[in-house]
Amino acid sequence: MSLGPGTPLPLVPVDRSGVRHGSRSYLTCAFRCGNACDHPEPNRSGNPHIADEIARAVGRRSVLRGAAVGGGALVLGVGGSGSLAAAATSPSRNGRGHGHGRGDSLANADFEPVAPNTRDDVVVPRGYESDVVMRWGDPVVAGAPRFDPYRQSVAAAEKQFGFNCDYVGVLPLPGRSAVLVVNHEYTSPTAMFPAGVYEDAERIAIEMANHGMSVVTLEEHRGSWRAERGRRAWRNRRIHDRTEFRLDGPAAGDPRLRTSADRTGRRVLGTFNNCAGGTTPWGTVLSGEENFNQYFGSSGDLDARYADEYARYGISGGTARGWQDVDERFDLTAEPHEPHRFGWVVEVDPYDPSSTPVKHTMLGRFKHEGANVTLSRDGRAVAYMGDDERGDYLYRFVSQERFAGGRGRKARRHNQQLLSKGTLYVARLTGDGTDDDEYDGTGRWIPLCSDRRSFVEGMSVADVLIFTRLAADKVTPTRMDRPEDVEPNPVNGRVYAALTNNSQRGSTFPPDEANPITSSQVRANPAAPLTTASGNRNGYVLELAPRRGDHTDDRFTWELFLVCGDPEAPETHFGGVDKDRVSPISCPDNVAFDSTGNLWVSTDGNALGGNDGVFRVPVDGPDRGRVECFLTVPKGAEACGPLITDRDRNLWVAVQHPGEVDGSSFDSPASTWPHTDDFPRPSVVVNHRR
Ligand code: FEO
Ligand code: CA
Ligand code: CA
Repeated sequence: MSLGPGTPLPLVPVDRSGVRHGSRSYLTCAFRCGNACDHPEPNRSGNPHIADEIARAVGRRSVLRGAAVGGGALVLGVGGSGSLAAAATSPSRNGRGHGHGRGDSLANADFEPVAPNTRDDVVVPRGYESDVVMRWGDPVVAGAPRFDPYRQSVAAAEKQFGFNCDYVGVLPLPGRSAVLVVNHEYTSPTAMFPAGVYEDAERIAIEMANHGMSVVTLEEHRGSWRAERGRRAWRNRRIHDRTEFRLDGPAAGDPRLRTSADRTGRRVLGTFNNCAGGTTPWGTVLSGEENFNQYFGSSGDLDARYADEYARYGISGGTARGWQDVDERFDLTAEPHEPHRFGWVVEVDPYDPSSTPVKHTMLGRFKHEGANVTLSRDGRAVAYMGDDERGDYLYRFVSQERFAGGRGRKARRHNQQLLSKGTLYVARLTGDGTDDDEYDGTGRWIPLCSDRRSFVEGMSVADVLIFTRLAADKVTPTRMDRPEDVEPNPVNGRVYAALTNNSQRGSTFPPDEANPITSSQVRANPAAPLTTASGNRNGYVLELAPRRGDHTDDRFTWELFLVCGDPEAPETHFGGVDKDRVSPISCPDNVAFDSTGNLWVSTDGNALGGNDGVFRVPVDGPDRGRVECFLTVPKGAEACGPLITDRDRNLWVAVQHPGEVDGSSFDSPASTWPHTDDFPRPSVVVNHRR
């Protein structure tokens, strides 16, 4: 269909009838996860509900002279490798003396928390500033044209920073440089295209190319960071819908992964709906393919062989995106196996732009939020993962092989195969009763399969890996309230999981001790009174403690560290700290740690009426649970990332979908952030002391 100039842009219809994610707009729900909340929850199993080594390893890499990384707390751009180990292994004691001569550490900074607000800006405390590093449309690879929203093309999008930035990884390079790796989760046609300029097929192809990931070389500049240009940016890369991936691990080559374009079942084009991720101890980036189901339509009947499997993954063929009309591989009737090639964790080597990125079948297939790897005491790689759906599960992977130290190519090659062999587990959490006034208990990691052997009756290894949700259903894990980021704290060794919300806890989903809230206090705006809403609207942060501190141990204890919401609401809990001392927080989504072990949490879908934000939370000591808002994002936006680097000097945040408010469009925007144009542009920012 072509549109004449001035014709209102119909794009795709937005369903306004269903359940929302917290206070998310109808636009966000439609375009980000395909209105997942409106579909029957795919999990109908009836189960109970519910690094320092990193621094050294990356630092050892020959090209990484003089920089180090540790569990989300990176040190970038320092001069010599001697100072590096110290920087990476010494937690900050205070806000001073980190070699910078100023009180610029965010770990211990005494800032005035940002109050709930609805401003169209990134708001940080007095004394701090926020710099935009990369915007949608900015050039990434050589030959990228200047961004012009009226002259978008597939060729341009494949060279420019994609839409809706999400995960942020920053890895060290020699000197005062770094490499930024960012996911581009999804596209919002209403926000991207002026009315009357693009035909549907062209618009859809541009949207496809705006998905994927970007790799961007950065240089430190006057205490902040900016993109490098020219020859020094030779690592830059755009991974998009036509980038070839290699399927790896036990299920690679399975007949159910083969299509007419790939008879091997080992080569896939593109990665979609990449949400969160993690930086590995060996200096690669993992990225989770989340709501991939929404990209598949159908021209006729669905393959009856996969009726149960499609249903469990929310694959119905009913999609408003229309991709199947542009590329037949998204037509389930023509290519019933294509959706099986998405829903994986992908691994990208940002240091080698010619490398073929990998989809790891050993980590299972579900709506992967992300994956965060730590090393066990005996050197095995342990990945923690969440399946972001109401009533879905927490997962863990333990590698068979051990991490290889050293800088050489051999070690690097070895480490990049650690996620190919090992054992995949799902979590069961048991409460110890609420008489102790704590939501806590014990838990167990239940094995699903190793690379050689299935532990699920009636399912092969490939069955378990390709249809992990169905395998997990059979071993009675705990159905959780939308598990998002799950990340080990490199300082205290405990694991923190964001459980964002579940409006149907207490109705469709019976409560249990790990998912106890069935009624929540919410606000329509920051000044409005608290009102009662059904279900868990504000989310939790769950803390897991592996037995004996061993990430390979199958037993753990757990506690709901934060029951989020307004501190005035009786159901909230903030690690036991006095509620007068905390900021309101709602819908935790992504987590990170600074070098002292403080948790940093970003939110998505604030049900308290204000903009989303990023919060600092000590996890030990007298301030354990003291939530303080450091930053809020503009109107309609979600705060993604976050990441703390440079000896706790910098906080990186991806500002996703600014202005995604119902009724808004490119021509009638609800936001103009970052205020460089008269329309909003999703962007990555770095925040630091002024
Ligand atoms: Fe893309 Fe689970 O958030
Ligand atoms: Ca208890
Ligand atoms: Ca997320």
